[in-house]
Formats: sequence, structure tokens, C-alpha cells
Amino acid sequence: MTIPCDILVFGGTGDLALNKLLPALYHLYREGRLHNAVRIVALARRNLPRLAFLQLAERRCRAQIARADFDDDTWGRFSTRLDYFPMDASQSADFGRLARFLGEPGGLTRVYYLATAPNLFVPIATHLQVAGLVDSEARIVLEKPIGQSLESATAINSAIGAVFAEPQVFRIDHYLGKETVQNLMALRFANALLEPVWRGNQIDHVQISVCETLGVENRGSYYDRAGATRDMLQNHLLQLLCLVAMEPPAQFEAEAVRDEKVKILRALKPITGQDVQDRTVRGQYSAGKIGGQEVPAYYFEKDVDNDSDTETFVAVEAHINNWRWAGVPFYLRTGKRLAKKSSQIVIQFKPVPHRLFEGDRANQLLIQLQPDERISLQMMTKTPGKGMHLEPVELNLNLAQVFGQTRRWDAYERLLLDVLEGDSTLFMRRDEVEAAWAWIDPIINGWQEHFQAPRPYPAGSNGPDQAHSLLAHQGRSWHG
Ligand code: BG6
Repeated sequence: MTIPCDILVFGGTGDLALNKLLPALYHLYREGRLHNAVRIVALARRNLPRLAFLQLAERRCRAQIARADFDDDTWGRFSTRLDYFPMDASQSADFGRLARFLGEPGGLTRVYYLATAPNLFVPIATHLQVAGLVDSEARIVLEKPIGQSLESATAINSAIGAVFAEPQVFRIDHYLGKETVQNLMALRFANALLEPVWRGNQIDHVQISVCETLGVENRGSYYDRAGATRDMLQNHLLQLLCLVAMEPPAQFEAEAVRDEKVKILRALKPITGQDVQDRTVRGQYSAGKIGGQEVPAYYFEKDVDNDSDTETFVAVEAHINNWRWAGVPFYLRTGKRLAKKSSQIVIQFKPVPHRLFEGDRANQLLIQLQPDERISLQMMTKTPGKGMHLEPVELNLNLAQVFGQTRRWDAYERLLLDVLEGDSTLFMRRDEVEAAWAWIDPIINGWQEHFQAPRPYPAGSNGPDQAHSLLAHQGRSWHG
């Protein structure tokens, strides 16, 4: 059971709040993880009576939560903990009203979840302080992306830091709450046999792919300013890269883990000058078909500029300048409206130094985050019968099979629980966010300087051809 608290969700009628946060809080409540005195207040501009908000919340939660996990009784009790407060987060006067609505904290910790556009982060934090709503126990949760560049991220971090001390700030990257992502740390740091081969001597290259079939849905106005690089590469993909590449921390504890991650981000070789042309690819989807359905080109999506040159796909060849990883390419790619949804990390080992058998292939470790969570190691094996005929066979660790079909926790459940327990291990520290931007900025600037327009790719394809050439010219190819 966690602390007694008020959870205040700014952007309370948005998709994130209704599709992710409320269902996650419902699950935590149902499992008895929330304190009886918890109060969850959604804050948004719409002038909704509480009852109308409850109906909206119930409808959206029912749509998100598996039927077997949703029961009317639990929802009835959970909904007594829910409230709605209409306010304009850019108006300081509304925070005075909010303070009166909330009343004295009376031992309750206040958790502010900013499920809003990043341009509201600073005004909200400042207004909260002015209204006397921030004490040393309060916590603030910020959704990515923090800013649009190193400069804007630093400004946001400094302004937030003037109101909340760093341990009170939880910068969320929901990829760190995914089961398999955490399993990656278990795999690396609890299995001695992997450590000697987890380095450039043995590993040929690493691929990190997050491919989506979804488009920009209702988020066109945000996405058109962000693009795949700021929306996904700067955070989710770089965080995955950190977990693959970091040195073992001294303890599994917030500062130790984040110290190791930030070292990796700082060791990333800058991509500047000609490398921007040679080692990055940006793309944008044109009209196409996904699952038999016609989908429009990106620039016809709702709230997107008709002549937008925002990228919906990005691929990058990254290098880490340290002893363990010198010379090992990390290929990262992510895109929307691709042929299939799949998030995976592939560790491609080098071939054996002296080949004895025809047809053998180098080992490959696959860590799949989506659609199903599994880890598999491809080993070369002799097929039964006469002769040395080899085939790759998978040693498979299918988490659902091993641990049974128990309900899988959503990333937001785990991370919200961590916020309530005050554990920052799976959240990005300020220096991490800024180090990630420091590496991303020259790539975005390089595209602008060279007027590098995104390469078109048909929706439902595997991305622009240039993304394939990025690996092909080195004799490699994308997995899957
Ligand atoms: C979000 C991005 O952070 O992650 C979205 O803003 C993206 O654009 C989403 O669709 C992908 O998350 P997941 O968990 O579905 O892979």
C-alpha cells in the first residue's frame, strides 16, 4: 500500500490520461496498491460536471481494460476516489481556485502528473508554487519529450528545478516500465555467462527497432512539431540503447543506474557534417495500405500542415566511444505506418573465427518488447540424421509461457507505483535528458542546414529504401 496522496492529472481529458493513466490507477486500486485516502483529480479546460467526467472515464477505461479485469463493484468504489476540476493551466488565478478546492494537505502527498504539452510544464510548476501547492513532499511527473532541443530542455529543467528539487521530479519514459526492458537488465546483470561476450570483440552490431502501424491519431498538432526524432529517438530508443550498452551499476538503485546510463549518452559519437547525410535517414509516409485498409499520406492527417516536412521515420547509425563498444554500430530505427507493429532489440554476434561447417550463421540474441514479450537466442544446431547439416534453432524464453498467463502489468502501472513509492530508478534524470538532446540537436540541425527533406515511403512498407541501404552497404540487413 502506498502513501496517502492526491494525484492531480493535468491534461485530464486527454488520451494519455483516459487511455493509460486511469486504467493503470484502476488496476493499482483493484490490487490494493493505492492508499484508501487516495484522491485522483483530473484537471482540464472542459467545463464538465463531475458526473459527466465519471461517465467519460468509465467509458474509456472499459474500452482499455480487459473484460475479465473490469468489474462494476470495483469501478464503483474506485470512482468514489475520482474527481474533476475544470481549469485553465495557463491562468494563475485558476491555481488559487484549485488550492481552495483541494484544501489543506493534512498529511497527503501531492503528486502532479503533467500529461500536457511541454510548453505548459513551466507555467504549471510556477503557478503551483505561487498558489502554495508545493511542499517538500510534493512530486511532479513530466511526460516526454522534455523540450524541443537542448536549449529548451535546459530552460524547462531549470525552471522546474527552481520549484521542485531533483528527487521530486519524475521524468517518465514509459519504455522503461515495460517488462522486457527491465528483463534486459536482469538478463545482463544476473547471468554471468553473457558478460564476457557483451562487448565489441564478440558483437558485430546491435539493432534497436520500434516499428508502429499507427499513424498520428489525434495528435497531429503535437506530432507535426516533434517528428519521430523528438517523439521516439531522443527518448525511448536512446534509453534502450543505454540499457544495452551501460556498464553494470554498483547497485540497482536510482543514482547508480542513472550514472551508468548518462555515461553512455555522453560517450555517443556526435553525428555532424557529412555523417548526417551518411549515417541518418529521415522519412515520411505517403498514402498506402495497412491490413487491407487505405491510409492517407502523413500531410493529409488531421492537424498536420499540408506541406509538412516532419519526419515520421528515422534511422540512425550510432557509435559509442568507449572500450566496450568501439567499432560496434548501433542501428536505431523507428517509424509510423510501417508494415507491422514490432519493437525489438537484436544483438548480432560475430561469426565463429574458423568455420568448420557449411551453412552456419552467427548467433543472434533477440529481445522482443512487442507484440509479444520474449527473449530468444539463435543457436546453430545439427539437424537429426546423417551428415552435418546445420540449422539455426531458437532457445526461447517466452515470458507468457514460463510465468503463465497472469495479467501483464502495463508500463504506466509500474511507473505510477514507483512515483508513489518515491523510486526514481526507472525515470530520466535531468543530466540524462540533456545529454540525449546534446546528441540529437546536431542531427536535426544538420537536416535543416542541408534542407534534407524526408524520403517518402508508402504506408504499410518497411520504411524508405535509404534505411535499408544504411545497413546494406556494410553487408548487413534489418532483422524482421
Ligand atoms: C509515445 C509516442 O511515447 O510512444 C507515440 O509519443 C508512440 O508516438 C508511443 O506511438 C509508442 O508506445 P508503445 O508503448 O505503443 O510502443
